[in-house]
Amino acid sequence: MLKTVNLDIGFDKPLVRNINIYIEKPSLVQVMGPNGAGKTTFLKTLAGLIKPLNGRIYIDDVDVTGSSEKAGRFISFSPQIVTTKQGEAFPISVWEFVEFGADLCYRKRGVGISKMELRKVVRDALQSVGIGQELWGRSIWRLSGGQRQRIFIARAIACNTPIILLDEPLSSIDPEGKAEIANLIGSLSKSKIVIATCHDPEMLLRYTDLVLLIGKGKYVADKPENVLVGNVLREFYGESIVEFANHIHVCDYHV
Ligand SMILES: Nc1ncnc2c1ncn2[C@@H]1O[C@H](COP(=O)(O)OP(=O)(O)OP(=O)(O)O)[C@@H](O)[C@H]1O
Ligand SMILES: [Mg+2]
Repeated sequence: MLKTVNLDIGFDKPLVRNINIYIEKPSLVQVMGPNGAGKTTFLKTLAGLIKPLNGRIYIDDVDVTGSSEKAGRFISFSPQIVTTKQGEAFPISVWEFVEFGADLCYRKRGVGISKMELRKVVRDALQSVGIGQELWGRSIWRLSGGQRQRIFIARAIACNTPIILLDEPLSSIDPEGKAEIANLIGSLSKSKIVIATCHDPEMLLRYTDLVLLIGKGKYVADKPENVLVGNVLREFYGESIVEFANHIHVCDYHV
């Protein structure tokens, strides 16, 4: 269970005010909104990486507000990948990246896991995102953007937390890969709360239980068929939405 109470997110001044959402069971929540609306800020706030300006966050009735240590017991986070080479000075292989990340995650949660179990979790996670064995020994800085995206998702999966936050998981994935990863996200959401930001809502639409649309300081959270309609989208994206609405086939979308 994930609940936000009167949550204001932002930095000096709020980006979005008074967010009250309650997610009771495994589901896929898609966070939408224009560039700079606060999608990444929202995910980081849930993960305790950014303190909210106001309000509280509860997971299974534990107050995790502003604490990555407490939130980390429940949440794993796959960040929005920027194609920078800033980490090149710290070489780390694909396997090590996922294994260290998962190991740290289990330690923080006080969950005991044997070396053999950990290896299996890492192997399964890498396979589930389509990263073959030939890449496991390669430095993560010698991967394509899409491959790197996949291993960040694999690391989040390997942590096996009940909540997974995915920031732009499809952004640099090729078209065929997008369908695969969307499918994987859909199946994860059968047993976990998955919260994903996405600029291409159509990809995840058929798996999406709730859309959280944010922008201009406000939000709406509802079933896709109630949010992905012209007048609501126009309110958040402006007139450019005419093209956008056509793109996502809002008119012929029925649940
Ligand atoms: N560390 C920070 N300090 C101050 N302002 C920040 C910081 N990080 C982001 N912002 C600002 O907060 C706003 C929201 O940023 P955020 O990254 O949450 O947007 P987003 O909805 O994820 O956008 P995108 O679609 O481009 O990923 C932006 O105006 C951004 O410049
Ligand atoms: Mg973002």
